[in-house]
Amino acid sequence: MAAVGGRLDLQGLGRRFGTFAAVESCDLKVEGGEFVTLLGPSGSGKTTILRMVAGFIRPSAGRIEIDGQDVRNVPAHRRNLGVVFQSYTLFPHMTAAENIAFPLQMRGVSREQQRRLVVEALDRVRLKEVSDRHPQELSGGQQQRVAVARALVFGPRILLMDEPFGALDKRLREELQAEVRRLHQTLGVTVVFVTHDQAEALAMSDRIAIMNGGRLEQVGTGSELYESPKSLFVADFMGESNVFRGRLLARGAARWVAGDGWEYPVGPSAQVDGVTPGDAVAMICRPERMRIARVDGTLSQPTCLVGRLTKTTYLGGISRHEISLREGRSVTVVTLGPDRSGAAPGDEVRVEWCADDTIVVPDTGPGGDTP
Ligand SMILES: Nc1ncnc2c1ncn2[C@@H]1O[C@H](COP(=O)(O)OP(=O)(O)O)[C@@H](O)[C@H]1O
Ligand SMILES: [Mg+2]
Repeated sequence: MAAVGGRLDLQGLGRRFGTFAAVESCDLKVEGGEFVTLLGPSGSGKTTILRMVAGFIRPSAGRIEIDGQDVRNVPAHRRNLGVVFQSYTLFPHMTAAENIAFPLQMRGVSREQQRRLVVEALDRVRLKEVSDRHPQELSGGQQQRVAVARALVFGPRILLMDEPFGALDKRLREELQAEVRRLHQTLGVTVVFVTHDQAEALAMSDRIAIMNGGRLEQVGTGSELYESPKSLFVADFMGESNVFRGRLLARGAARWVAGDGWEYPVGPSAQVDGVTPGDAVAMICRPERMRIARVDGTLSQPTCLVGRLTKTTYLGGISRHEISLREGRSVTVVTLGPDRSGAAPGDEVRVEWCADDTIVVPDTGPGGDTP
């Protein structure tokens, strides 16, 4: 049943609850077969978007097109979408197999065909041996697998998933992530996935749409969002950042970021977006792009700062180092394995980075640090 996934097109989508705008002016095109994740903090409007697409609530502005068709007046059950929500979605009085058969019954599929499709669906999520159990006799992971099987059994072209693994522990969650990725690949179904977990979004998605306060802040591949965030919000949401707040300066062809008593060059390949000289900016440097050097060693980068190593945390594959600067501010450096500079907590150290590895975005508000 490898079908081509459906296309989804949100145009200026908005939803108000009373005077409160839960979703505003969202434009998003999802290609057939694509896996797109809505990522954002709690309350940013992710579920509201999914509920509008599913047809559970109506938009107050904009359009939703599925395969080029405006679905405004198409009821939920005729949109032919598979839906999986976080929890409690299975019918408690039905067995796993009966739960999975339910959407087929609703569609008037013959008994014989139902049996065949249910067996296929159970097999797909590796649950054949528990088909006769009721939800309360299944583990959380098994219940969500049944929910996934039920959402896919009638061959929908788009699958909507709202934080489906949020209630599961880390290992189970990773197992189910891998399973959903595999299903996505083998079935060719389009998936719109919702999570507030950046690692989950990175592990699953072709593209990620970052939501902030009801708006789509930035849409791109995981690496685009991590390497080239267009705002401090996206940079923060996609991973850890060292933030230096100052103003952008131009000296001939070279650009610098200057703050109170410091200035650093911005490399020619560094990402500088939406700012011009004179603007208040945040210069971002990821902790793994910085390294620790001895203060008396030779300088390998022109961009460096001096501070005291206050803490090293060994985390197995990586180590985290906190370097405290003047006035109690600090910078975090992450090294692969232990740090090789030989510095120990209490030592004065230099932190170096390549000027091309910085990201400069408009400075829009609080959060972050200045050296
Ligand atoms: N039925 C509703 N009535 C009033 N406010 C709502 C309703 N549904 C959601 N909201 C509000 O809209 C905002 C976005 O909610 P939601 O889409 O659930 O966010 P998310 O899924 O990103 O956590 C929240 O502030 C929430 O309180
Ligand atoms: Mg939600």
